[in-house]
Amino acid sequence: MCSFGTLRSSTNLEPDPRRQTAGQILPPQMSHSISRSFSPSIFYFGTPVAVLSTSNHDGWVNLTPMSSAWALGDRIILGLSVHSQGYSNLVQTGEVVVNLPDASAAEALERIAPTTGAREVPAHKAAMGYRFERDKFALAGWSEVPSSKVRPPRIAQCPIQLECRLLQSHAAKPTDADPEPGFRIFEVEVVQAHAHEKILWPATDHVNTERWKPLLYVFRHYFSTGDRLGRNFRAAA
Ligand SMILES: Cc1cc2nc3c(=O)[nH]c(=O)nc-3n(C[C@H](O)[C@H](O)[C@H](O)COP(=O)(O)O)c2cc1C
Repeated sequence: MCSFGTLRSSTNLEPDPRRQTAGQILPPQMSHSISRSFSPSIFYFGTPVAVLSTSNHDGWVNLTPMSSAWALGDRIILGLSVHSQGYSNLVQTGEVVVNLPDASAAEALERIAPTTGAREVPAHKAAMGYRFERDKFALAGWSEVPSSKVRPPRIAQCPIQLECRLLQSHAAKPTDADPEPGFRIFEVEVVQAHAHEKILWPATDHVNTERWKPLLYVFRHYFSTGDRLGRNFRAAA
């Protein structure tokens, strides 16, 4: 008999510990192969947090926490809300530093999370509790380090800092479900990369993955990596 039969044939009047009102708890060997449709509020399935530094036209520096970012070769693709100051600055200046915080930055990041560098906070963001903050460096307790090829500075406390120039961008495509998407997709080129010595193997360009603990954003919760499970056949170190 398959174990489904075991569940169905239960005659015990006590609540079955393998069932819950909100869903069904099944033995591990069964539950991993069963799925149902769902409608999450957001598809943040788990990506590293990045903090973008950008310069305003008056030279003042803004920080934008974000996580819709991925790398391919020397390009990074960034998804940014058109209602953010980071978006406006990147469009105006074509320059950005993609700073990658590690697990120790979760609290500092959450201090700047409910803020925007936009003086006029968009109404929908104000309703969510966002407020204007000019000096996000001070609020986070972070310090600036000058960049070598772009104007916005790097964040000293972030173990990886990527100086980038904008190559192109395009608007998100309107759909029936979302006729006015509020974000834009940017392709930037890494023109200079920096890493803390402590996360690099001495005298190499290889990252010591036992020491690099990226801050991950998973359905609006913060995590980092655990033990290494294996290595790719092309891993350099
Ligand atoms: C962990 C985290 C991830 C986020 N990811 C994104 C993202 O990928 N794209 C985006 O536009 N906003 C993202 N946000 C929201 C922005 O940080 C928020 O809109 C902020 O006000 C932008 O700041 P700015 O207006 O000063 O640029 C994220 C926020 C947090 C805390």
